[in-house]
Amino acid sequence: MKVTIFGSGYVGLVTGTCFADAGNDVVCVDIDAERVAQLQNGEVPIYEPGLDDMLTFNQEEGRLRFTTDPAEGVNHGLFQFIAVGTPADEDGSADLHYVLNVAQTIGQHMDDYRIIVDKSTVPVGTADKVRSVVGQQLRERGSSLEFDVVSNPEFLKEGAAIDDFVKPDRIIVGVDNPRTAELMKALYSPFNRNHDRLISMDIRSAELTKYAANAMLATKISFMNELSNIAERLGADIERVRIGIGSDPRIGYHFIYPGCGFGGSCFPKDVQALAHTAQEYDYQPELLEAVQRVNRNQKDILMQRIREYFGDELQGRTFALWGLAFKPNTDDMREAPSRVLMEALWDAGAQVQAYDPEAMDEVERIYGERADLELCDNQYDALEDADALVVCTEWQVFRSPDFERIRQALRQPVIIDGRNVYTPSVMEAMGFTYYGIGRGE
Ligand code: UGA
Repeated sequence: MKVTIFGSGYVGLVTGTCFADAGNDVVCVDIDAERVAQLQNGEVPIYEPGLDDMLTFNQEEGRLRFTTDPAEGVNHGLFQFIAVGTPADEDGSADLHYVLNVAQTIGQHMDDYRIIVDKSTVPVGTADKVRSVVGQQLRERGSSLEFDVVSNPEFLKEGAAIDDFVKPDRIIVGVDNPRTAELMKALYSPFNRNHDRLISMDIRSAELTKYAANAMLATKISFMNELSNIAERLGADIERVRIGIGSDPRIGYHFIYPGCGFGGSCFPKDVQALAHTAQEYDYQPELLEAVQRVNRNQKDILMQRIREYFGDELQGRTFALWGLAFKPNTDDMREAPSRVLMEALWDAGAQVQAYDPEAMDEVERIYGERADLELCDNQYDALEDADALVVCTEWQVFRSPDFERIRQALRQPVIIDGRNVYTPSVMEAMGFTYYGIGRGE
């Protein structure tokens, strides 16, 4: 089948590459000429395990092409996927500017029936806006071409995106007629084997499903983070409580790990946008507001720990940070808790020596060269003469380090663990002063 994907960002690249890998003929369109040139040379501008090889293989096979020419894209695919960004507007609502620009482009250039698929995370009602923009363009051209609009939100996790696409838990398709539903089903059939995972529903419900899923997951995390703060004060260990409650299948073990707050390009933005939509429709979303507040406070927790131990005078102190990306297996720094910590340390006059297995270039791009930031070549270099080690992201490589080396390198044997990677009793037995999250044994 012929597929066009607008937007060669995270979602667009994974979607386009996976469709091509299933044998479809895919054209990806992006307005960023530099990015397109890179992609044409087989260079993948984001870090996602497995994407490089899959992308270049399908490019060589001639099933995956990149262009800046929107007309070429519109003329190519029966399916026109919109996978451009929806950044948060100043007031917290999703900025639909890019999505509607693509809709306009499709309306200007289409010369045959098209299925326009919203893949970007967009507020309820966006499909109607897309329909009206495309319709307007066609009317201006005096054209009576037909088209359909579909909501097909994506549920990819960074770091596991290929697997999530190829073996999805569910494929949500919001449609308003059976013919489009059948065509979408056919397109997704390579990823929908063994048992039917495609859930077809009306468009508005599909749009809301995406926000509901992310808001639910974010709520689970904020709930656990709040509970960890209570556990600490009560002298209870949140890790035991986590295992205790997770055993109830109604609760489950997934996504109840306490930590130094959730980040990334999705949860913070989507919870905020859903709360904003609710308010627009005259509903005050108490729980969604609380989820955001708890998360904002939780991102301060590492700095609080530092002040607890070292006091408020941090001028001249140096802190080693392990893990900067918002989670392991990505180089994505968007809304990462490490940023809140680094910025607070710099404000207090402290030095940061940091290491992340993938995000170093991204950190350099964001913060540039600074006298109070040293980006280290490996995790142990970051420890040299630092006052404490702070773990912000639970990369696998940090789980079993050489603790003797850590103790020797640090000025003081202090570990502040924002992801509960280590066990308090073991750390204490090794002579470390150890702070975890919610570990008030
Ligand atoms: C999230 C969702 O998991 C995807 O299903 C969704 O498609 C995606 O957003 C999106 O809307 O595009 P992602 O942002 O890649 O995916 O990251 P997650 O793995 O969900 O992690 C989000 C944050 O929650 C991270 O900062 C992580 O450290 C934190 N987290 C996660 C916890 O603090 N505790 C947990 O138990 C789980």
